[in-house]
Amino acid sequence: IKLYAGSASIELTNKVAEYLGVPVNGRDVVVFPNENIFVKLHSSVRGQDCYVIQTTSAPVHRNLMELLIMIQTLRLDSAARITAVIPYLCYARSDKKDQPRVPITARLVADMIEVAGADRYITLDLHAGQIQGFFTIPGDVLTAFHILVDYLHSIKPRMHSPVLVTADLGFAKKGRNFAAAIDAPMAFIEKRRVANDAKARALTIIGDVNGRDCVLVDDEIDTGGTMVEAVNILKENGARNVYMVFVHPVFSANAAQRLASLPVTEFITTDSIPIPPEKKALFGERLKIL
Ligand code: R5P
Repeated sequence: IKLYAGSASIELTNKVAEYLGVPVNGRDVVVFPNENIFVKLHSSVRGQDCYVIQTTSAPVHRNLMELLIMIQTLRLDSAARITAVIPYLCYARSDKKDQPRVPITARLVADMIEVAGADRYITLDLHAGQIQGFFTIPGDVLTAFHILVDYLHSIKPRMHSPVLVTADLGFAKKGRNFAAAIDAPMAFIEKRRVANDAKARALTIIGDVNGRDCVLVDDEIDTGGTMVEAVNILKENGARNVYMVFVHPVFSANAAQRLASLPVTEFITTDSIPIPPEKKALFGERLKIL
């Protein structure tokens, strides 16, 4: 196979290459002063099975466009098969028309990946499973569930009466799987979004958290609003330690600062999105990237 790294996933691609025992293939990515992106492969991929790894976190449009251009470059060089590996798929929250006169941008992103020339896609913990149906090419949606659960098992002996908490009712079903896997009861925080999607407000807790260690699980942290509200309401209701578990560390704006100042014992996440060193430093030992 031929493995290529998009500029947003260099470290992850190196890890994958090491794991598979294959090299990362050379390519140039140039961003011109007018922000146009240019890609050139260092060697031919004619007849090869190619994988390009590129997460589509911020800067979203630059990273997405680079992915599309890399796919097209491989296609035009006669690759036999191209798999787009997109650990974090952008626009996954725009997955339906939930009000009149709005787009379904996740569908548009899927279309663009196909039009660019991908034969397959691989992604991780999609925000909404139905996004798979937006692609007509086959794909694999992987999950970090097992890795996260294994880690939770390893720290469970030091937890006191753990309870699994979801701060987003949309994640409640998946939360139930976490609860079953670590053999813990569940609690839910009912959250209502205010006005636009970038603002969240936690309202009430359904379930018992008093005197218990809380494992607060979600698929992604974007602005951190949901989790800040969640931790506050958990603490107001007598929670002991809080462990925060999330697959995608999107960490927009000042989310890292907001989260790091919370009374949270550990922040447990994955490397689907690279966290800049200055943001990592805010968490110190409390951040576990699995
Ligand atoms: C919501 O649908 C997701 O599961 C997360 O709760 C949400 O993306 C978190 O966003 P934020 O960090 O901006 O509150």
